[in-house]
Amino acid sequence: MDINTLTHEAQSAFKATFENDATITAAAPGRVNLIGEHIDYCDGFVLPFALEQNIVIAAAPNGTSTARLASSMGGDTVEIDLVGDILESTPKWANYPRGVMQYFREQNGCTLPGFDAYITSNVPAGGGLSSSAAFELAVATLLEGLTAITMDTREKALLAQKAEHNYAHVPCGIMDQFASAFGENNHLVLIDCQSGQPTLVPFENPDLTVIVANTCVAHELSDGGYAARRKNTEDGLAIIGKNSWRDVSQDDVESAKDQMDDTTYRRSRHVVGEIQRVMDAVKALESNHFAALGTLMDASHTSLRDDFEVSCEELDIMVEIAQSIGTDGGVIGSRRTGGGFGGSTVTLCESSKADAIIAALHTQYESRTGITPEIFTSRPSQGARILEGTSHGKQVLQSSPEELDPIG
Ligand code: GLA
Repeated sequence: MDINTLTHEAQSAFKATFENDATITAAAPGRVNLIGEHIDYCDGFVLPFALEQNIVIAAAPNGTSTARLASSMGGDTVEIDLVGDILESTPKWANYPRGVMQYFREQNGCTLPGFDAYITSNVPAGGGLSSSAAFELAVATLLEGLTAITMDTREKALLAQKAEHNYAHVPCGIMDQFASAFGENNHLVLIDCQSGQPTLVPFENPDLTVIVANTCVAHELSDGGYAARRKNTEDGLAIIGKNSWRDVSQDDVESAKDQMDDTTYRRSRHVVGEIQRVMDAVKALESNHFAALGTLMDASHTSLRDDFEVSCEELDIMVEIAQSIGTDGGVIGSRRTGGGFGGSTVTLCESSKADAIIAALHTQYESRTGITPEIFTSRPSQGARILEGTSHGKQVLQSSPEELDPIG
Protein backbone atom coordinates (compact mmCIF):
# COMPACT_ATOMS: atom_id res chain seq x y z
CA MET A 1 0.00 0.00 0.00
CA ASP A 2 1.54 3.35 -0.99
CA ILE A 3 1.53 6.49 1.10
CA ASN A 4 -1.37 8.06 -0.83
CA THR A 5 -3.61 5.05 -0.22
CA LEU A 6 -2.57 4.97 3.43
CA THR A 7 -3.30 8.69 3.79
CA HIS A 8 -6.69 8.27 2.16
CA GLU A 9 -7.43 5.36 4.52
CA ALA A 10 -6.47 7.44 7.57
CA GLN A 11 -8.60 10.40 6.47
CA SER A 12 -11.69 8.32 5.62
CA ALA A 13 -11.42 6.31 8.84
CA PHE A 14 -11.05 9.60 10.72
CA LYS A 15 -14.27 10.85 9.19
CA ALA A 16 -16.12 7.61 9.93
CA THR A 17 -14.90 7.56 13.54
CA PHE A 18 -15.17 11.23 14.52
CA GLU A 19 -17.83 12.41 12.03
CA ASN A 20 -15.65 15.31 11.00
CA ASP A 21 -12.96 16.07 8.41
CA ALA A 22 -9.30 15.75 9.34
CA THR A 23 -7.56 19.10 9.03
CA ILE A 24 -3.99 17.89 9.36
CA THR A 25 -2.21 14.68 8.40
CA ALA A 26 1.30 13.74 9.54
CA ALA A 27 3.54 10.83 8.56
CA ALA A 28 6.79 9.29 9.73
CA PRO A 29 8.63 6.30 8.26
CA GLY A 30 10.10 3.15 9.72
CA ARG A 31 13.75 2.46 8.97
CA VAL A 32 16.01 -0.32 7.82
CA ASN A 33 19.66 -0.34 8.74
CA LEU A 34 22.11 -1.25 5.98
CA ILE A 35 25.01 -1.74 8.38
CA GLY A 36 26.16 -0.66 11.87
CA GLU A 37 24.18 -2.70 14.37
CA HIS A 38 24.09 -2.35 18.14
CA ILE A 39 26.73 0.36 18.07
CA ASP A 40 24.59 3.50 18.14
CA TYR A 41 24.78 3.34 21.94
CA CYS A 42 28.56 2.81 21.70
CA ASP A 43 29.48 6.10 19.99
CA GLY A 44 29.65 4.21 16.68
CA PHE A 45 28.57 5.00 13.13
CA VAL A 46 25.34 3.57 11.70
CA LEU A 47 23.97 3.63 8.16
CA PRO A 48 20.16 3.31 8.09
CA PHE A 49 17.61 4.81 5.75
CA ALA A 50 13.96 5.84 6.07
CA LEU A 51 11.62 3.28 4.52
CA GLU A 52 8.76 3.97 2.11
CA GLN A 53 6.57 2.42 4.83
CA ASN A 54 5.00 4.96 7.19
CA ILE A 55 2.74 5.59 10.12
CA VAL A 56 0.16 8.14 9.01
CA ILE A 57 -2.03 10.10 11.44
CA ALA A 58 -5.05 12.13 10.33
CA ALA A 59 -6.25 14.60 12.95
CA ALA A 60 -8.26 17.69 13.81
CA PRO A 61 -8.63 19.88 16.92
CA ASN A 62 -11.78 18.94 18.87
CA GLY A 63 -12.21 22.04 21.06
CA THR A 64 -11.73 20.11 24.32
CA SER A 65 -8.70 19.35 26.51
CA THR A 66 -8.68 15.65 25.62
CA ALA A 67 -6.86 13.75 22.89
CA ARG A 68 -8.90 10.90 21.42
CA LEU A 69 -6.83 8.34 19.52
CA ALA A 70 -8.26 5.62 17.30
CA SER A 71 -6.24 3.21 15.23
CA SER A 72 -6.57 0.79 12.33
CA MET A 73 -4.82 -1.74 14.57
CA GLY A 74 -8.15 -2.08 16.41
CA GLY A 75 -9.18 -1.66 20.03
CA ASP A 76 -11.24 1.08 21.63
CA THR A 77 -10.60 4.78 21.12
CA VAL A 78 -8.14 5.92 23.79
CA GLU A 79 -8.77 9.18 25.63
CA ILE A 80 -5.86 11.13 27.08
CA ASP A 81 -6.46 14.08 29.38
CA LEU A 82 -4.12 16.88 28.33
CA VAL A 83 -4.40 18.81 31.60
CA GLY A 84 -1.77 17.80 34.20
CA ASP A 85 0.94 15.19 33.79
CA ILE A 86 0.40 12.57 31.12
CA LEU A 87 1.42 9.31 32.75
CA GLU A 88 1.91 5.76 31.50
CA SER A 89 -1.25 3.72 31.36
CA THR A 90 -3.07 1.13 29.29
CA PRO A 91 -3.35 0.18 26.50
CA LYS A 92 0.42 -0.06 26.11
CA TRP A 93 0.52 1.18 22.50
CA ALA A 94 -0.81 4.56 23.63
CA ASN A 95 2.26 5.07 25.85
CA TYR A 96 4.25 6.19 22.80
CA PRO A 97 1.96 9.17 22.14
CA ARG A 98 1.58 9.76 25.90
CA GLY A 99 5.35 10.12 26.28
CA VAL A 100 5.70 12.31 23.20
CA MET A 101 2.84 14.59 24.30
CA GLN A 102 4.24 14.98 27.81
CA TYR A 103 7.75 15.87 26.58
CA PHE A 104 6.50 18.04 23.72
CA ARG A 105 4.64 20.21 26.22
CA GLU A 106 7.56 20.28 28.64
CA GLN A 107 10.21 21.06 26.07
CA ASN A 108 8.27 23.69 24.18
CA GLY A 109 6.67 25.23 27.25
CA CYS A 110 3.24 25.03 25.62
CA THR A 111 -0.18 23.57 26.22
CA LEU A 112 -1.69 21.09 23.79
CA PRO A 113 -5.10 21.67 22.21
CA GLY A 114 -7.55 18.80 22.44
CA PHE A 115 -7.63 16.80 19.22
CA ASP A 116 -8.95 13.67 17.58
CA ALA A 117 -6.60 11.42 15.63
CA TYR A 118 -6.81 8.28 13.51
CA ILE A 119 -3.61 6.23 13.11
CA THR A 120 -2.81 3.92 10.19
CA SER A 121 0.41 2.11 9.39
CA ASN A 122 2.11 -0.06 6.83
CA VAL A 123 5.30 -0.47 8.89
CA PRO A 124 5.25 -4.11 10.02
CA ALA A 125 4.87 -4.08 13.83
CA GLY A 126 7.50 -6.13 15.67
CA GLY A 127 9.44 -6.50 12.42
CA GLY A 128 12.57 -4.75 13.72
CA LEU A 129 11.80 -1.84 11.38
CA SER A 130 11.22 0.83 14.02
CA SER A 131 7.47 1.07 13.97
CA SER A 132 7.79 2.59 17.44
CA ALA A 133 10.16 5.37 16.33
CA ALA A 134 7.84 6.02 13.37
CA PHE A 135 4.90 6.31 15.75
CA GLU A 136 6.77 8.69 18.07
CA LEU A 137 7.95 10.91 15.21
CA ALA A 138 4.53 10.93 13.56
CA VAL A 139 2.93 12.09 16.83
CA ALA A 140 5.63 14.71 17.45
CA THR A 141 5.22 16.03 13.91
CA LEU A 142 1.44 16.10 14.28
CA LEU A 143 1.83 18.10 17.50
CA GLU A 144 4.03 20.56 15.62
CA GLY A 145 1.20 21.04 13.16
CA LEU A 146 -1.46 21.34 15.85
CA THR A 147 0.49 23.85 17.96
CA ALA A 148 2.18 25.71 15.07
CA ILE A 149 5.54 25.11 16.76
CA THR A 150 8.31 23.77 14.52
CA MET A 151 10.97 21.96 16.51
CA ASP A 152 14.59 21.57 15.54
CA THR A 153 14.76 18.15 13.87
CA ARG A 154 17.45 16.80 16.20
CA GLU A 155 15.54 18.01 19.28
CA LYS A 156 12.41 16.33 17.97
CA ALA A 157 14.26 13.02 17.42
CA LEU A 158 15.79 13.19 20.91
CA LEU A 159 12.37 13.90 22.40
CA ALA A 160 11.05 10.76 20.67
CA GLN A 161 13.99 8.74 22.01
CA LYS A 162 13.24 9.99 25.53
CA ALA A 163 9.63 8.82 25.16
CA GLU A 164 10.92 5.39 24.07
CA HIS A 165 13.25 5.23 27.10
CA ASN A 166 10.76 6.33 29.73
CA TYR A 167 7.36 5.27 28.41
CA ALA A 168 8.30 2.07 26.51
CA HIS A 169 11.29 1.18 28.71
CA VAL A 170 13.66 0.38 25.85
CA PRO A 171 17.07 1.99 26.47
CA CYS A 172 17.57 2.50 22.73
CA GLY A 173 20.27 4.51 20.97
CA ILE A 174 19.53 7.32 18.51
CA MET A 175 19.52 5.43 15.23
CA ASP A 176 15.80 4.79 14.74
CA GLN A 177 14.52 8.21 15.69
CA PHE A 178 17.27 9.96 13.66
CA ALA A 179 16.56 7.84 10.58
CA SER A 180 12.82 8.52 10.84
CA ALA A 181 13.39 12.25 11.42
CA PHE A 182 16.25 13.02 9.00
CA GLY A 183 15.49 10.56 6.16
CA GLU A 184 15.56 11.90 2.59
CA ASN A 185 14.60 10.34 -0.73
CA ASN A 186 17.50 8.42 -2.29
CA HIS A 187 19.81 8.97 0.68
CA LEU A 188 21.18 6.83 3.46
CA VAL A 189 21.54 8.57 6.81
CA LEU A 190 25.08 8.07 8.10
CA ILE A 191 24.89 8.90 11.80
CA ASP A 192 27.95 9.70 13.85
CA CYS A 193 26.54 8.62 17.19
CA GLN A 194 29.37 10.30 19.11
CA SER A 195 28.75 13.81 17.77
CA GLY A 196 25.08 13.24 16.92
CA GLN A 197 25.70 14.53 13.40
CA PRO A 198 23.74 12.94 10.54
CA THR A 199 25.25 13.00 7.04
CA LEU A 200 23.18 12.17 3.97
CA VAL A 201 24.89 9.64 1.73
CA PRO A 202 23.42 9.50 -1.80
CA PHE A 203 22.01 6.09 -2.71
CA GLU A 204 20.23 6.45 -5.99
CA ASN A 205 21.79 3.86 -8.28
CA PRO A 206 18.77 2.22 -9.97
CA ASP A 207 20.77 -1.00 -10.45
CA LEU A 208 20.80 -1.57 -6.68
CA THR A 209 17.76 -2.75 -4.72
CA VAL A 210 17.30 -3.27 -1.00
CA ILE A 211 15.09 -6.20 0.00
CA VAL A 212 13.61 -6.26 3.49
CA ALA A 213 12.51 -9.73 4.62
CA ASN A 214 10.44 -9.89 7.78
CA THR A 215 10.81 -13.37 9.30
CA CYS A 216 7.50 -12.75 11.10
CA VAL A 217 9.10 -13.91 14.31
CA ALA A 218 8.31 -11.01 16.65
CA HIS A 219 10.84 -9.46 18.94
CA GLU A 220 10.32 -7.76 22.28
CA LEU A 221 13.10 -5.31 23.07
CA SER A 222 11.74 -4.36 26.47
CA ASP A 223 12.15 -7.89 27.83
CA GLY A 224 15.77 -7.43 28.82
CA GLY A 225 17.88 -8.82 25.96
CA TYR A 226 18.54 -5.38 24.51
CA ALA A 227 19.37 -3.79 27.87
CA ALA A 228 21.63 -6.75 28.67
CA ARG A 229 23.63 -6.22 25.46
CA ARG A 230 23.99 -2.55 26.26
CA LYS A 231 25.27 -3.44 29.74
CA ASN A 232 27.79 -5.90 28.24
CA THR A 233 29.26 -3.11 26.13
CA GLU A 234 29.46 -0.76 29.11
CA ASP A 235 31.28 -3.45 31.10
CA GLY A 236 33.67 -4.08 28.20
CA LEU A 237 34.53 -0.40 27.83
CA ALA A 238 35.10 -0.03 31.59
CA ILE A 239 37.54 -2.96 31.59
CA ILE A 240 39.38 -1.60 28.54
CA GLY A 241 39.60 1.69 30.43
CA LYS A 242 38.75 4.16 27.66
CA ASN A 243 36.06 6.83 27.61
CA SER A 244 34.62 6.01 24.20
CA TRP A 245 34.47 2.96 21.92
CA ARG A 246 35.70 5.27 19.17
CA ASP A 247 39.12 5.25 20.84
CA VAL A 248 39.29 1.46 21.16
CA SER A 249 41.17 -0.73 18.70
CA GLN A 250 40.91 -4.49 18.25
CA ASP A 251 44.38 -4.67 19.86
CA ASP A 252 42.99 -2.93 22.95
CA VAL A 253 40.24 -5.58 23.13
CA GLU A 254 42.81 -8.38 22.80
CA SER A 255 45.01 -6.81 25.50
CA ALA A 256 42.06 -6.70 27.90
CA LYS A 257 40.86 -10.22 27.01
CA ASP A 258 42.29 -11.86 30.13
CA GLN A 259 40.38 -9.49 32.38
CA MET A 260 37.03 -10.19 30.66
CA ASP A 261 34.62 -13.10 30.69
CA ASP A 262 34.13 -14.65 27.27
CA THR A 263 30.77 -12.91 26.69
CA THR A 264 32.13 -9.42 27.39
CA TYR A 265 35.12 -10.17 25.15
CA ARG A 266 32.94 -11.21 22.21
CA ARG A 267 30.56 -8.26 22.65
CA SER A 268 33.58 -5.91 22.66
CA ARG A 269 35.05 -7.56 19.57
CA HIS A 270 31.75 -6.99 17.76
CA VAL A 271 31.56 -3.29 18.67
CA VAL A 272 35.05 -2.46 17.42
CA GLY A 273 34.66 -4.61 14.30
CA GLU A 274 31.25 -3.17 13.42
CA ILE A 275 32.39 0.46 13.78
CA GLN A 276 35.21 -0.32 11.34
CA ARG A 277 32.82 -2.11 8.97
CA VAL A 278 30.55 0.96 8.73
CA MET A 279 33.49 3.22 7.92
CA ASP A 280 34.63 0.71 5.27
CA ALA A 281 31.08 0.46 3.92
CA VAL A 282 30.88 4.21 3.35
CA LYS A 283 34.20 4.09 1.47
CA ALA A 284 32.95 1.12 -0.59
CA LEU A 285 29.78 3.04 -1.48
CA GLU A 286 31.71 6.16 -2.41
CA SER A 287 33.91 4.19 -4.77
CA ASN A 288 31.08 2.01 -6.15
CA HIS A 289 32.68 -1.15 -4.72
CA PHE A 290 29.38 -2.86 -4.09
CA ALA A 291 30.92 -6.33 -3.76
CA ALA A 292 33.04 -5.00 -0.88
CA LEU A 293 29.92 -3.55 0.72
CA GLY A 294 28.22 -6.95 0.42
CA THR A 295 31.14 -8.71 2.08
CA LEU A 296 30.94 -6.23 4.98
CA MET A 297 27.19 -6.88 5.37
CA ASP A 298 27.80 -10.64 5.47
CA ALA A 299 30.57 -10.18 8.06
CA SER A 300 28.26 -7.98 10.13
CA HIS A 301 25.72 -10.80 10.25
CA THR A 302 28.30 -13.35 11.37
CA SER A 303 29.47 -11.03 14.14
CA LEU A 304 25.90 -10.30 15.31
CA ARG A 305 25.08 -14.03 15.28
CA ASP A 306 28.21 -15.38 16.97
CA ASP A 307 29.68 -12.55 19.03
CA PHE A 308 26.78 -10.26 19.85
CA GLU A 309 24.18 -13.07 19.88
CA VAL A 310 21.21 -11.01 18.71
CA SER A 311 20.16 -13.28 15.87
CA CYS A 312 17.80 -16.26 15.96
CA GLU A 313 17.27 -19.39 13.89
CA GLU A 314 14.76 -17.79 11.53
CA LEU A 315 16.96 -14.74 10.83
CA ASP A 316 19.94 -17.02 10.20
CA ILE A 317 17.88 -19.12 7.79
CA MET A 318 16.72 -16.04 5.84
CA VAL A 319 20.31 -14.76 5.59
CA GLU A 320 21.63 -18.22 4.68
CA ILE A 321 19.12 -18.48 1.81
CA ALA A 322 20.11 -15.05 0.47
CA GLN A 323 23.82 -15.75 0.78
CA SER A 324 23.42 -19.14 -0.92
CA ILE A 325 21.76 -17.43 -3.92
CA GLY A 326 25.07 -15.59 -4.04
CA THR A 327 26.51 -13.07 -6.44
CA ASP A 328 25.65 -15.19 -9.48
CA GLY A 329 22.00 -14.91 -8.50
CA GLY A 330 22.37 -11.17 -7.90
CA VAL A 331 22.73 -11.08 -4.09
CA ILE A 332 25.43 -8.62 -3.02
CA GLY A 333 25.15 -8.98 0.77
CA SER A 334 22.68 -9.93 3.47
CA ARG A 335 22.36 -9.53 7.22
CA ARG A 336 19.88 -9.22 10.08
CA THR A 337 18.82 -5.67 10.85
CA GLY A 338 17.51 -3.80 13.93
CA GLY A 339 17.33 -4.64 17.61
CA GLY A 340 17.20 -8.36 17.08
CA PHE A 341 16.03 -11.70 18.42
CA GLY A 342 13.60 -11.78 15.48
CA GLY A 343 12.41 -9.23 12.97
CA SER A 344 13.89 -8.63 9.55
CA THR A 345 16.90 -9.10 7.32
CA VAL A 346 18.25 -6.60 4.81
CA THR A 347 19.60 -7.84 1.49
CA LEU A 348 21.37 -5.71 -1.08
CA CYS A 349 20.93 -7.06 -4.59
CA GLU A 350 21.02 -6.31 -8.30
CA SER A 351 17.71 -4.72 -9.28
CA SER A 352 17.25 -6.91 -12.36
CA LYS A 353 17.29 -10.03 -10.17
CA ALA A 354 15.27 -8.69 -7.22
CA ASP A 355 11.99 -10.40 -8.17
CA ALA A 356 13.63 -13.80 -8.52
CA ILE A 357 15.47 -13.33 -5.22
CA ILE A 358 12.27 -12.35 -3.41
CA ALA A 359 10.51 -15.42 -4.81
CA ALA A 360 13.36 -17.71 -3.70
CA LEU A 361 13.51 -16.18 -0.22
CA HIS A 362 9.77 -16.59 0.15
CA THR A 363 9.55 -20.20 -0.98
CA GLN A 364 12.66 -21.50 0.71
CA TYR A 365 12.04 -19.69 4.02
CA GLU A 366 8.46 -20.93 4.12
CA SER A 367 9.46 -24.51 3.37
CA ARG A 368 12.24 -24.52 5.98
CA THR A 369 10.34 -22.82 8.82
CA GLY A 370 6.64 -23.25 8.04
CA ILE A 371 6.27 -19.47 8.49
CA THR A 372 5.08 -17.17 5.70
CA PRO A 373 7.48 -14.22 5.56
CA GLU A 374 6.64 -10.67 4.53
CA ILE A 375 9.12 -9.48 1.90
CA PHE A 376 9.29 -6.13 0.14
CA THR A 377 11.71 -3.66 -1.39
CA SER A 378 12.15 -0.05 -0.40
CA ARG A 379 14.17 2.85 -1.67
CA PRO A 380 15.43 5.41 0.83
CA SER A 381 12.53 7.74 1.51
CA GLN A 382 11.51 10.95 3.18
CA GLY A 383 11.54 11.45 6.95
CA ALA A 384 8.76 12.69 9.24
CA ARG A 385 6.58 15.40 7.70
CA ILE A 386 3.19 17.04 7.54
CA LEU A 387 1.41 15.65 4.49
CA GLU A 388 -1.61 17.91 4.55
CA GLY A 389 -2.60 20.93 6.60
CA THR A 390 -0.11 23.66 7.24
CA SER A 391 1.70 24.95 10.22
CA HIS A 392 2.37 28.68 10.20
CA GLY A 393 4.38 28.56 13.37
CA LYS A 394 7.63 30.17 14.27
CA GLN A 395 10.47 28.54 12.42
CA VAL A 396 13.52 27.53 14.41
CA LEU A 397 17.04 27.17 13.11
CA GLN A 398 17.15 23.60 11.87
CA SER A 399 20.04 21.26 12.56
CA SER A 400 20.63 19.99 9.08
CA PRO A 401 22.53 16.95 7.92
CA GLU A 402 25.68 17.31 5.89
CA GLU A 403 25.61 15.89 2.39
CA LEU A 404 28.23 13.80 0.64
CA ASP A 405 28.82 14.11 -3.08
CA PRO A 406 26.56 11.98 -5.27
CA ILE A 407 27.83 8.51 -6.05
CA GLY A 408 26.78 5.63 -8.25
C1 GLA B 1 17.00 -0.92 18.11
C2 GLA B 1 17.32 0.39 18.82
C3 GLA B 1 18.42 1.17 18.10
C4 GLA B 1 19.63 0.30 17.80
C5 GLA B 1 19.21 -1.01 17.16
C6 GLA B 1 20.36 -1.97 17.00
O1 GLA B 1 16.43 -0.67 16.87
O2 GLA B 1 16.17 1.18 18.92
O3 GLA B 1 18.77 2.30 18.86
O4 GLA B 1 20.41 0.10 18.95
O5 GLA B 1 18.20 -1.68 17.93
O6 GLA B 1 21.29 -1.48 16.09
